[in-house]
Amino acid sequence: MSARLHLGVFYTGVGPQFLWDDPSNADHTAIETYVSVARTLERGLFDAFFLGEGLRVRENRGRVHALDVAGRPDAITQLSALAAATTRIGLVATQNTTYNFPADLARRLSSLDFLSGGRAGWNIVTTDNAWTGENFRHGGWLAHERRYDRAEQFVEAALALWSGAGLVDRHTDLVNVRAVPTVPPSPQGRPVLFQAGDSPGGRELAAKYADVVFSANTAYDKALAYAEDLRARLARHGRPADAVRILPGATVVLGDTPADAAERAEDIRRRQITPQRALAFLEQYWGQDLSAYDPHGPLPDIEPVEGELDPSRGTISIADRTGKLERIRRWRELAEAKKLSIHQLVLEVQPRQRGFVGTPGQVADEWAHYVRTRAVDGFNLSPHLVPAALDDVVDRLVPELQDRGVYRTEYEGTTLREHLDLPPLTA
Ligand SMILES: Cc1cc2nc3c(=O)[nH]c(=O)nc-3n(C[C@H](O)[C@H](O)[C@H](O)COP(=O)(O)O)c2cc1C
Repeated sequence: MSARLHLGVFYTGVGPQFLWDDPSNADHTAIETYVSVARTLERGLFDAFFLGEGLRVRENRGRVHALDVAGRPDAITQLSALAAATTRIGLVATQNTTYNFPADLARRLSSLDFLSGGRAGWNIVTTDNAWTGENFRHGGWLAHERRYDRAEQFVEAALALWSGAGLVDRHTDLVNVRAVPTVPPSPQGRPVLFQAGDSPGGRELAAKYADVVFSANTAYDKALAYAEDLRARLARHGRPADAVRILPGATVVLGDTPADAAERAEDIRRRQITPQRALAFLEQYWGQDLSAYDPHGPLPDIEPVEGELDPSRGTISIADRTGKLERIRRWRELAEAKKLSIHQLVLEVQPRQRGFVGTPGQVADEWAHYVRTRAVDGFNLSPHLVPAALDDVVDRLVPELQDRGVYRTEYEGTTLREHLDLPPLTA
């Protein structure tokens, strides 16, 4: 089969990626917004609409992160409403394995698969932060690697519940299930399994169970290295190399000319990384309160605390999580050499590799190269504005991709598995 791109949209619902204060933005809790977005994506023949999960307002060093907007209503509830208003788009809910329980979550995801006629997906995450547990009186429950132990035991239990074999009686060190499923196997047999998490534990979980990975490796070289690593892991688990679709997160800014696109991207970046956010970014690395510093002034003259990044690291990639003292030393040299303020420095150094910027033709050429060289199978796009940024992709980029023969011209199937060209599940 020829190389074909699969596209999804990931609604962050929280954080700086989105330009929350733009007046053109649609309401983030209104059903009309979601219905209209999902229908736009169906017009663009996307595989999936994807919602993140945040069970608690985010924190930065033990305090509520006041700059973060909490726009994350419950994903399964929202997607169930969308199931009734759409016919083709896949509906993927991020749900963690750390605080949920298998019998309950398996049932809710099966229900979504029924309601949508076989369009449900589950993005399996472990939720790596120190604060969500407070909602469940667990505190910072389970160390990072143990969360992956629980994830594996959880997924095994869910698969058993979805297998149609009746009573599931499983007792492992972190998961206990004794339950008869309350619903029969759903249209897809089970939801399509996505995985997001980049550590060795996360990659192993993907290699064992995932149908799709929501990867954090978007820059070409990183994407290729990730694909090779995942394929080697798949082989070790006796799965074929094409068993998993790799869809890294990405952003897109389109313009009429390369210069126009670059200008737009720079403007968006300045609006995303405000002076206050620049300070909050440095606080993560300094490990202490920097609110007394002027973001338009020089870098903090105090020394950072010794410990590595605090647990609010969220989706910071593995490579960026260690060696912070060396990183800070380089930043100081750069700021000194170029006479940069805190804000200017952060604009310069905060990673931007997740973005594609150019004319629709340029971005289509770039994506065609990614997919033809098997670095990725597609992208999960996070819009900076809704609906404007998505309309742009559907109306201007999709036709260019179709012209290059790397994108579908109609939906051929009805289920999410079919959209993703995944083989049917064997009984
Ligand atoms: C692309 C991506 C998206 C993620 N989305 C969510 C999310 O919506 N909710 C959540 O709790 N965790 C999310 N996570 C975090 C994972 O739950 C995981 O805890 C975190 O990445 C740490 O695991 P790791 O060290 O294996 O990367 C996401 C991770 C990645 C890489």
